[in-house]
Amino acid sequence: MTIMRRETGIVGLDKLISGGFPVPSTVLIGGEPGTGKTTLAVQTLFYGAKKGEVGIYITAISEPRWVVQKFLSEFTFYDEAAIDKEKILFLEIRKSFFEEPGKLLPRIKQFVERYEPQRVVIDPITPIKAALDEKGVTREFLHDLFEFLKGFNCISIITAELSYNEIPKSLEGYMVDGIILLSYPEEKAVRRKFLEVLKMRGTKHVTGKQLVDITNEGFLVHAGLR
Ligand SMILES: Nc1ncnc2c1ncn2[C@@H]1O[C@H](COP(=O)(O)OP(=O)(O)O)[C@@H](O)[C@H]1O
Ligand SMILES: [Mg+2]
Repeated sequence: MTIMRRETGIVGLDKLISGGFPVPSTVLIGGEPGTGKTTLAVQTLFYGAKKGEVGIYITAISEPRWVVQKFLSEFTFYDEAAIDKEKILFLEIRKSFFEEPGKLLPRIKQFVERYEPQRVVIDPITPIKAALDEKGVTREFLHDLFEFLKGFNCISIITAELSYNEIPKSLEGYMVDGIILLSYPEEKAVRRKFLEVLKMRGTKHVTGKQLVDITNEGFLVHAGLR
């Protein structure tokens, strides 16, 4: 049985993973601040929107639409019309949800059911997870959320502030179908950015760190170059 895939639209990435993310799937994009997680994730939403798909951007950061506009509108992939036409929608997780995490899942479900997206981004999961950890409900929440999103045949990208060493002990790490790690190690006194596919269920994928660049056109992977 061949697995259906959805292209990420990130130049160089789809070739590394046999054409795209399996449908449905949940992929964790881990990396330290500034490694390009938000750029990559939002770029995939605009790519989908261009093809008529609907994408949802979920965050605990306030005024997400404004933040995305402020920081990402310089990129050539940014398209205000996609937002105006509700091909890209924003769901802000308000602080009140952190006190009552029981209300969070119903809120996300309601929003997803209303807009029926093909792509969902949660950027970053880190503060949401910290609040859930406090109540001891993280595992149950993530399990229910990921299963729910799969019911919509979504590809979901969950970003997390994580380094390589933190992945084995992170709960998200084994609950997701794929893990992509972004990094910027120091090598010979220069920092270059890299992407590495650590896990992609049901997918023959290239291993090892690939050199990446963030340019005006967005995030791109120089596959095979180091
Ligand atoms: N127009 C641009 N051209 C080149 N690089 C950019 C541009 N805009 C942002 N960047 C790079 O991308 C980084 C931000 O990436 P971001 O996606 O916000 O990372 P993260 O979400 O992992 O913190 C910036 O620190 C900068 O290095
Ligand atoms: Mg970010």
